[in-house]
Amino acid sequence: MDPKLILMVCLFLIPVTAIADYVRPQPRKTLRFSWNPKPPNYPQQVHISLAGDRHMRVTWVTVDKYSPSIVEYGTSPGRYSSIAKGESTSYSYLFYSSGKIHHTVIGPLEHNTIYFYRCGGQGPDLQLKTPPAQFPVTFAVAGDLGQTGWTKTTLDHIDRCNYDLHLLPGDLSYADYLQHRWDTFGELVQPLASARPWMVTEGNHEEENIPLLKDGFESYNSRWKMPFEESGSSSNLYYSFEVAGVHVIMLGSYVDYDEQSDQYRWLKVDLSKVDRKKTPWLIVLFHVPWYNSNKAHQGEGDDMMMAMEPLLYAANVDIVLAGHVHAYERTKRVNTGRVDPCGTVHITIGDGGNREGLAHRYVNPQPEWSVFREASFGHGELKIVNSTHAFWSWHRNDDDEPVRSDQVWITSLISSGCVAEKKNELRKILVAP
Ligand SMILES: *[C@@H]1O[C@H](CO)[C@@H](O)[C@H](O)[C@H]1NC(C)=O
Repeated sequence: MDPKLILMVCLFLIPVTAIADYVRPQPRKTLRFSWNPKPPNYPQQVHISLAGDRHMRVTWVTVDKYSPSIVEYGTSPGRYSSIAKGESTSYSYLFYSSGKIHHTVIGPLEHNTIYFYRCGGQGPDLQLKTPPAQFPVTFAVAGDLGQTGWTKTTLDHIDRCNYDLHLLPGDLSYADYLQHRWDTFGELVQPLASARPWMVTEGNHEEENIPLLKDGFESYNSRWKMPFEESGSSSNLYYSFEVAGVHVIMLGSYVDYDEQSDQYRWLKVDLSKVDRKKTPWLIVLFHVPWYNSNKAHQGEGDDMMMAMEPLLYAANVDIVLAGHVHAYERTKRVNTGRVDPCGTVHITIGDGGNREGLAHRYVNPQPEWSVFREASFGHGELKIVNSTHAFWSWHRNDDDEPVRSDQVWITSLISSGCVAEKKNELRKILVAP
């Protein structure tokens, strides 16, 4: 029997348990995408991402292999004052051949400004808004998206909120080896991802390796190129960027992370460059949570946590956002399993709406560090108000209406004195060979 079918059957056997007055919904089916052929040079699956200071990378796909990798752009509709030329790539995967995947960096761009742009000299006039130069800045957050009816609901809710960037802690398309699903996912997210930068890191569903035939992450790396070169990384699987007073680090849960690894070495260099006067907030994303009291994926993040938590603690990471577990959980500030006012707030937000459904079973009693946990689909919003205060809220997809279910003010470590306190500790780790 097909394992997916077994999973579906199992999900239907799980009794629907009610917590308080809220009955958790069942998973929804993968969306059907009608066959909607476009001219070969029509730009499809457009998405944007930050690419270094005041620059944006525009990515799109054409069927036509000769379509040029140019983006025309400007600040008034239909009148393009600038043009940029980029690069392109493509890949094949068993019997599948991708279209031409274009990556073109535009800029320098003004902050907090609407730009109109067009890809490949064809197709519709699109709009994007660049992030602000200063606080406040708002991030929309949702991981483990997939492309089901619930994904659609989550995206609709995010679309209604006023945000500057989308952060995605892994598991995008749930293509799971079926490459055309990367294309349908690209189409599904285009309305949002062509308008605001989508900054993503990889999850297990991006790996798609086939022993002896295919290395991991080929589709993901070809389609979702992130600013790794711009941030001194040699791999698209980990990188960093800065936006309006926030330094964001994207790590890879499925890349070597021990002290001798390239990822760890890069992380040390990246952290040594962080200037808390310029970026008072430090946020890290990766896929597999370190603090998780759900029974799903219990303990899976332990090895990475053992290797990297001392460094992140010394570096005063304010917030970690993770996915993988299909539920929502928020912790107090925590370090080495204990509540610690100079530790990190860990948020698991792997509840974007994928076809595998929710993770309902929790470890009891609830650990001391766990503040709020619930298995529902939804999304998060993180508004960094100023150098000391941020407002986090989680919105569950309650019968298709976004309901704010959890909210908290988070104060930065810089404002608490922790950063000054741990200065020597950080220096010691950073200079260690
Ligand atoms: C930062 O924002 C918080 C919440 O709005 C406010 O109470 C505080 O006074 C602000 N701090 C500064 C330095 O503006």
